[in-house]
Amino acid sequence: MPTEAPLHAAPAADAVLDSLTARRSIGLLQSPGPEGEALDKILRTAVSAPDHGKLRPWRYVLIRGAARMAFLQVITEAMRARDPEVAEALLEKQRARIHRTPLIIAVGAAIQAEHKIPEVEQILTVGAGAMNLLNAFHASGYGAVWLSGANAYDPAVSSALGFEAGERLLGFLYVGTPVEPVSPAPLRPDVQRFVREWRPA
Ligand SMILES: Cc1cc2nc3c(=O)[nH]c(=O)nc-3n(C[C@H](O)[C@H](O)[C@H](O)COP(=O)(O)O)c2cc1C
Repeated sequence: MPTEAPLHAAPAADAVLDSLTARRSIGLLQSPGPEGEALDKILRTAVSAPDHGKLRPWRYVLIRGAARMAFLQVITEAMRARDPEVAEALLEKQRARIHRTPLIIAVGAAIQAEHKIPEVEQILTVGAGAMNLLNAFHASGYGAVWLSGANAYDPAVSSALGFEAGERLLGFLYVGTPVEPVSPAPLRPDVQRFVREWRPA
């Protein structure tokens, strides 16, 4: 009798699971970031997320090289427009982050309103894609952090990045090489606090 072939090969489950649990956000980044085929390979994980109805709602805008300085300009103007008296320290924080980070990915969702697939599911698909990216960057030895803040929800920023009507900017992934040695992931909560067995009455 031939033995049934496994549905998929899972040769390195321990390594994959260890990588997933060791991931942590890294905010202090520098060059180099992933490029070329290495970046393409990572980006492909973003469209492996589950996608109800195959709506393909992911929108990823890569901001790198000289474009980062134009992005900084957009962010600075948006912050000044929202608050003409914005503290110089806040602007400097953005400036420093954008200057030192080699790759920024604006993550957006193209939402099909009034679709039988609820909007929340479309956004979850984009979130799942972004999570795949964070894990892929980590597994590839890069550091990354997912940030939103007021700039992510500012229509001026969204439109400057080319998001159109029906597309929602959801946040930014900052990606690069960790400046400091990466310490172990922060203590995570005991998973059992979030898990329970359903016992039918
Ligand atoms: C959608 C989303 C937006 C976030 N925006 C911010 C943010 O603007 N500022 C921030 O400090 N952390 C933000 N975070 C949290 C960080 O990405 C990160 O998860 C947190 O610092 C904890 O680090 P850890 O991923 O190592 O647990 C955001 C997370 C998500 C999922």
